[in-house]
Amino acid sequence: MDLQNELKQKAAAAALEYVKEGEYLGVGTGSTVSFFITELATSGKRVKGCVSSSEATTRQLLAYGIPVCDLNDIVGTIPVYVDGCDEIDGNFCMIKGGGGALTREKILAEASDMYVCIADASKEVKQLGKFPLPLEVIPMAVSSVCRAMEELGGHPTVRDMVTDNGNNIVDVHGLQIKEPTRLEAAINQIPGVVTCGIFGKRGADVLLIGTPEGVRTLK
Ligand code: 5RP
Repeated sequence: MDLQNELKQKAAAAALEYVKEGEYLGVGTGSTVSFFITELATSGKRVKGCVSSSEATTRQLLAYGIPVCDLNDIVGTIPVYVDGCDEIDGNFCMIKGGGGALTREKILAEASDMYVCIADASKEVKQLGKFPLPLEVIPMAVSSVCRAMEELGGHPTVRDMVTDNGNNIVDVHGLQIKEPTRLEAAINQIPGVVTCGIFGKRGADVLLIGTPEGVRTLK
């Protein structure tokens, strides 16, 4: 395993401490989360059910025999949501959506009491924006959303994928994200944008960073 994956695995293992047995658990998407699911499956910890943020995560959970529930069947909030990120700043604002699951991830983050972010050390940044900002976009609006993003100073490219919701992903390069929450709100107002990959309004609560020296916990 390469170093980056080792660090992802360390952070993923550390998140087990936050899992509440007998309660619902929100589960994100991506390679770090995939390590977390394996850790959860082999830990002996039993949750009431997982609420999944993607078809890929659902498949992995079910393959381990971990029950998966529908968010609509849950009354109240999910106590803990474990997910990764593509970038995270000092205020725990993030860019997400590298795996294209940003909309369901944002729904689960918003529905949860605590967002535990698991990441390797390369994800920590001073300012968001080096990682191209993913947007989930309704297919008929791809061109108009791209033009709107050019007006905001970005360079959009259309990703060769269809999301679990049947939409497109536009990756916006070259944005200087100085005020994440403000830009998140502005982009979310563009007709055709389902979700923008800035998680500023609802950022992380706990950050577990895998480093060569061990896992750093930031709150
Ligand atoms: C998926 C995400 C992931 O959390 C993000 O892309 C990080 O992925 P990885 O753990 O593979 O580095 O937002 O939509």
